[in-house]
Amino acid sequence: MASQVNEVSDIRRGEDAVPPLTPDFIPHPWCPLDSAELHDGFVTVRWPDGVTFEAYGLWLAENVDGYGLEPIVRESTLEPTDLPDPSALRSAGVDHDGALVVEWSERPAVRVHPGWLRHVADGQHLPASSLPAPVVWTAADQPEPPTIDGSKILHDEAVLEAWLTGLVEHGLCRLTDTPVELDFVGRLLGMVGPIRDTNFGPVWSVRADPEPNSTANTGLNLGQHTDLPTRETPPGFQFLHCVENSVDGGWSRMSDGIAVTEAIRAEQPDAYAALSTLDWVFMNRARDAEHVWIGPIIDRGSTHQPLTLRAFYPVRSAPHMDPRDIPRAYESLRVFARYASDPRFQIRYPFRAGDLVGFDNRRILHGRDAFESTGHRHLRGCYADHDDIYSRLRVLRRPTVASGARHRMQRSSAPDIAANSDEVSV
Ligand SMILES: [Fe+2]
Repeated sequence: MASQVNEVSDIRRGEDAVPPLTPDFIPHPWCPLDSAELHDGFVTVRWPDGVTFEAYGLWLAENVDGYGLEPIVRESTLEPTDLPDPSALRSAGVDHDGALVVEWSERPAVRVHPGWLRHVADGQHLPASSLPAPVVWTAADQPEPPTIDGSKILHDEAVLEAWLTGLVEHGLCRLTDTPVELDFVGRLLGMVGPIRDTNFGPVWSVRADPEPNSTANTGLNLGQHTDLPTRETPPGFQFLHCVENSVDGGWSRMSDGIAVTEAIRAEQPDAYAALSTLDWVFMNRARDAEHVWIGPIIDRGSTHQPLTLRAFYPVRSAPHMDPRDIPRAYESLRVFARYASDPRFQIRYPFRAGDLVGFDNRRILHGRDAFESTGHRHLRGCYADHDDIYSRLRVLRRPTVASGARHRMQRSSAPDIAANSDEVSV
């Protein structure tokens, strides 16, 4: 694996040279350095297009082959107590191939892959860097879900990548013409990554049930909501595959929670403040499970965490706030529900057998029209965490990202890269 990746990445080097390993499995293009200068424990590296990066010596020690990097798994083997004294870094320079060469006391010099350094300098190692940016939508610009022919998705990685891209960009993407088989959604998601199991099981059915374990398994109307706010981390994505539908009604409804919350923030600031700061306790009411969590309806978590909407009235069990805040908290719920179902934001569409809709369960509000039990409506569903969908998409996008980096290196001016590099210092 290691040699294969390095062969791909080694596009600018001599025939017989062995490129240094990098602490990842990404095929970084070779980006030769112009210069390297050691000062105060840092190595300042510079590329021909003017981009510079401050690499701290101890960070280099953790990540270079010949010092801290384990050559097979490509992780650091150095506990913090094993790190050298910062002053042990004796010299830094650039070899004839443009690689960084660094030397610590009483150790042979090691070479560092300049494409990997450039990847970090450009901020390409950050979680969102190789993922598509969210596209916020309303009913006017997205009257129906982004849709892809899913008939070949099990065998065509380009289709899979397009679908996962739609899921991350729009938070919603529909496949049509998939096999009408009870186990298809489980097979598909099992191929993408781990399924997020819950007390409903790894793959579950949504249909009118005489003894329902959830309001989902009735023919009732379901207001706009997100699933499982009773969990510390609700499932990142939800997938619903229609294997049978002969009922009148039961149309799906979706709205983009980013657009909804931004509109509330702009137009109803008092309601936004209540929705994003006042805590509610959420609890599922099941005979054999008791999941409980607490948080605001619009949960922005900490820095770098994605938006999590905790919006499911059947499991919202109690306000946890100063009693004087409770009336405005309830009033803000009314505002939220009104915006979530506003035709400005909400789209409606039918489920046909073979349709498989995936959506970001923490961003997209989903609901369902009531339906009569005179026919049959059977959806098979499962969840997956953000992490595993993002991971699969990053791996699929590696060739694109690597060629993008190559392209950036070849441009003569790079003001955006320079701006990025200011944000990254290790
Ligand atoms: Fe739901």
